[in-house]
Amino acid sequence: MKRIVVLISGSGSNLQALLDCASAGQLGGEVVAVISNKAEAYGLERARLAGAATAVVANGDYPDREAFDAALMDIIDGYQPDLVALAGFMRILTPGFVRHYQGRMLNIHPSLLPKYQGLHTHRRAIEAGDGEHGASVHFVTEELDGGPVILQARVPIFEGDDEAQVAARVLVQEHAIYPLVTRWFCEGRLAMQDGKAWLDGHELPPQG
Ligand code: GAR
Repeated sequence: MKRIVVLISGSGSNLQALLDCASAGQLGGEVVAVISNKAEAYGLERARLAGAATAVVANGDYPDREAFDAALMDIIDGYQPDLVALAGFMRILTPGFVRHYQGRMLNIHPSLLPKYQGLHTHRRAIEAGDGEHGASVHFVTEELDGGPVILQARVPIFEGDDEAQVAARVLVQEHAIYPLVTRWFCEGRLAMQDGKAWLDGHELPPQG
């Protein structure tokens, strides 16, 4: 059973999808700990209800990004994870931190990468007049939201949709693809090599 540490900052609905899949015996792994940079994150409650350990590493308790990431790394490594899953973790990580977990850290991002890296992805897609939007699961590299994409899900944007409607439509897909990719990782089917994502020994094509 692979050991998974999940990092969150908020509601934790993606965390819930992982917890549900794990409790149904369909993840091939166990969420051993959930760490938040926000003490008030509802996802911490979801973790407690599921019996996972929790920890808070608060932004304001550290003088700089390096000190924060060092503290976070210490806590994560205490759980000896096979995989670190970012699930709505809204903080930029230092290159040293990212390198430490290279090939064993995943992120879910609410856009069809490489489109709309960063924040406010739904608003930007609506404002651009896109008819299609979605979510991407990717390996984390030093380039923000720039690591190799493993799987994407697409949803339509309809005339007159607002940000909340699009976000909700995308989230449903996030909850499907993140557990699936996590399962691939836990089953040893997924790897990152030469900056590319590989599934079952096949290089996944770059997106875009
Ligand atoms: C999700 O939409 C996730 O893709 C996004 O935050 C939301 C978290 O929701 N992540 C990012 O924007 C990362 N840059 P959740 O807390 O309910 O899982």
